[in-house]
Amino acid sequence: MQITLAIESSCDETAVAILRGDKTETQILSSEISSQIDLHREYGGVVPELASRTHSLTLRPLIEQALQNAGVALEDIDCYGATAGPGLASSLMIGHTAAKAMALAAGKPFVSVNHMEGHLLSPFLETKTGILPNLALIVSGGHTMLLHTRAFDDYALVGKTRDDAAGEAFDKVAKMLGLPYPGGPEIEKAAKLGDPTAYAFPRSRIKDAPYDFSFSGLKTAVLYTLSDLSPKDGQISQEQIPDICASFQQSVIDVLVKRTLLAAESLSCPLITLSGGVSCNQSLRDTLQSACEAANKTLLVCSPTLSTDNAAMIAYITLHKHLRKQYSTLDCDIDPNLRLNTLVLRK
Ligand code: KG4
Ligand code: ZN
Repeated sequence: MQITLAIESSCDETAVAILRGDKTETQILSSEISSQIDLHREYGGVVPELASRTHSLTLRPLIEQALQNAGVALEDIDCYGATAGPGLASSLMIGHTAAKAMALAAGKPFVSVNHMEGHLLSPFLETKTGILPNLALIVSGGHTMLLHTRAFDDYALVGKTRDDAAGEAFDKVAKMLGLPYPGGPEIEKAAKLGDPTAYAFPRSRIKDAPYDFSFSGLKTAVLYTLSDLSPKDGQISQEQIPDICASFQQSVIDVLVKRTLLAAESLSCPLITLSGGVSCNQSLRDTLQSACEAANKTLLVCSPTLSTDNAAMIAYITLHKHLRKQYSTLDCDIDPNLRLNTLVLRK
């Protein structure tokens, strides 16, 4: 069993986690998250300068808290890791530099981690099986992707969004409706009170790209609906919000579930995983679960605290790279546009 400590600071959450595990089993010894959501809410989105300043203030006490809650000393850590990208440059730099400094001081190896690989494999964190081949749907604030995972570090891109990510669409539609940031949970809450068939929003399809997504047309359709409902200023009444949220959410879910099942079927993949912040959405989980049962497939989703940004998923990749001795040098840098190393099955 090896122990890893990792830092996640790609956006507006400062997170530190300590894991103990081997190739098949992992135990989360601690997973601390200091959210900055309240700080950024009044600006309607993340302010990079404010985020990095807050990361630098929060990180040190959070590391101490993680060590204390895990009941381990610094000498017990076998390998350090941190998110190198994608994300905000000034935020990434704080966690990445801190983890490198800790590794250097302790004379232990360092692993530079791709945030998306963290999301991708997060569903396996709570299993006792290790990483199994699967078709993965990642739905976060910045990405919407379908990936075929054959094994650790062996990924093929199956489909992706051509414009907005699913979470971004949730956030933008929430903003149009005057709901607070981040919009995903707000839309889900309002949607529970609404009728998903009230508005016939589009389910966009891309010609000759059956596994790709597009959400910009849907966003525009919501905007037109708002101006139709209230031609003067686009301000609709509070009573109209639930039906719009429910219909919008249903449209996103229908598209995500349909494409995912289609891809799993064509790749003959019996296991489907769901990850990223939008996977907190209970309707998405339920709809995908029912579709998987109907198609005789198994769905693996992690608990909501591991679905949104966290450091446990980064410590998990750190552990698997450490077990394979895939270390990074201490002069490696962050990359705000870091891409996942994938084989592209199709453009
Ligand atoms: O993975 P994540 O925490 O951060 C990124 O790497 O982007 O995802 C954040 C995204 C935001 O767009 C947020 O609105 C969305 O996940 N989200 C949700 C829900 N909870 C978070 N979207 C829909 N329903 C939710 N319950
Ligand atoms: Zn994320």
